[in-house]
Amino acid sequence: MIDKSKEKKILCVGAGYVGGPTMAVIASKCPGYTVTVVDIDQKKINGWNSDSLPIYEPGLLETVKKVRGKNLFFSTDIAKEIDACGIIFVSVNTPTKTFGEGAGRAADLQFWEKTARSIIEHSNDDKIVIEKSTLPVRTAEAMHRILQSNSKGLNFDIISNPEFLAEGTAIKDLENPDRVLIGSMDSDSGRKAAAKIAEIYGSWVKKDKILLTNVWSSELSKLVSNAMLAQRISSINSISALCEKTDADVDEVAKAVGMDSRIGPKFLKAGVGFGGSCFKKDILNLVYLCEFYGLNEVAEYWQKVVDVNEFQERRFVLNMIAKMFNTVAGKKIAIFGFAFKADTGDTRESPAIYVAKKLIEEKAELSIHDPEALKNAKIDLKDCNGKISYYRDYLDCVKGVHAVAILTEWNCFKDYDYEKIFSLMEKPPFIFDGRNIVDRKKLFRIGFNVSSIGKTFLTNLDKHN
Ligand code: NAD
Ligand code: UGA
Repeated sequence: MIDKSKEKKILCVGAGYVGGPTMAVIASKCPGYTVTVVDIDQKKINGWNSDSLPIYEPGLLETVKKVRGKNLFFSTDIAKEIDACGIIFVSVNTPTKTFGEGAGRAADLQFWEKTARSIIEHSNDDKIVIEKSTLPVRTAEAMHRILQSNSKGLNFDIISNPEFLAEGTAIKDLENPDRVLIGSMDSDSGRKAAAKIAEIYGSWVKKDKILLTNVWSSELSKLVSNAMLAQRISSINSISALCEKTDADVDEVAKAVGMDSRIGPKFLKAGVGFGGSCFKKDILNLVYLCEFYGLNEVAEYWQKVVDVNEFQERRFVLNMIAKMFNTVAGKKIAIFGFAFKADTGDTRESPAIYVAKKLIEEKAELSIHDPEALKNAKIDLKDCNGKISYYRDYLDCVKGVHAVAILTEWNCFKDYDYEKIFSLMEKPPFIFDGRNIVDRKKLFRIGFNVSSIGKTFLTNLDKHN
């Protein structure tokens, strides 16, 4: 049983894309609770304590400002806060392992285990420990063993409460989630702990959206949700390749297919490929787990979702090279969008990284423009030997370029002055729309050669002959 005086004290270990926004929303919806977010990264914590937050997310700064210093606090004093709080969310990163057994596929749980060990070290009473990070199924078992091995006779209840927010819409998703999943161990103490977590979310989420399950179902549901979302994208992307061969239009196909209410319209937007820190990592993790349990056919099935994504990225660059007369060497190419999706500065696993590196390998010069992600783009490409420049202004970015490649679905790209862009570019000018967001017919009329995903090539080249 957690200490009564600590029942309304929440700690979150990990002040990243999940920890920061999630705790800001919990603090704003639950004024009766005190919420503290801790991290080992002092710079990040300084950012959370300032008006220049470490991540960009629409509506985040407003939410943080409403509660920061009242019932939301950011700190690096992990030891003190572990002791002070009864409820501990852990949302540290769980990247793909880069070393040893399972390298390139299994989840690297070292940050989680370190956190579990500091919880043991600094706790002086019972706690509820919540898996907020995405973890392989049955991690709770290992974590429970580690926590229960404490020599102080303390009880730790472990709860799985995976996060389903998407970047760019985090605040909206947190305020109005499709569901909140709370998995607990099959014991009295486990069920009581789950009820306490459900009570927190119950402050703003309707009861029928709060799902109480066993801990393994909860852990696995998170991996499967991401795998299924990514699977839909790979499915439509695979069809986009066929559309390009057959003169079908992938957006028309997606609309027709998605109008079947059994299929539904969401996550059927073809593009240059999915990015983000989680889809690939979580699917590879699922693949690894299936192999571990000897389910090789199941593993191969999910591996294909990642393979098709890589095929789509590669296809995009090869198409650029082919359309630009089989060489981009010495040509200047503008990249519009480096973030892995719109409304975020996050570039983790962004298809833009692959596209940029491949173009540099082919000896193209790059000028990169993104409303929020230039800082991260510079970090991602710091080891590239090639000419790369970065622009906040899109008109500066396109001066003298042979082609523009659109790699992120930023809304603002739709409204840019393409007549002006046309006038600033080398001729013949190409647009490669990796997100199918611009009005391609209008661009074609201006004089561009427009290559979109899963659509016929609109070319003015014949007219110049
Ligand atoms: P992140 O890298 O943005 O944040 C993780 C933070 O944990 C970092 O700031 C890091 O410094 C901190 N950290 C690591 N070890 C620590 C320790 N021992 N003590 C204190 N702090 C420590 O990661 P993220 O994107 O927030 O993802 C966190 C987890 O949530 C992952 O498992 C991810 O799969 C999952 N998830 C992410 C998203 C998303 O949109 N990014 C959505 C749902 C779930
Ligand atoms: C995804 C899930 O949507 C969240 O539910 C989950 O919590 C999160 O992963 C996670 O676990 O990290 P996120 O990666 O932030 O969220 O963003 P998405 O909107 O899912 O987009 C992922 C990628 O797929 C982006 O590159 C996006 O451009 C691409 N995408 C998305 C498409 O190419 N087509 C689509 O139809 C939708």
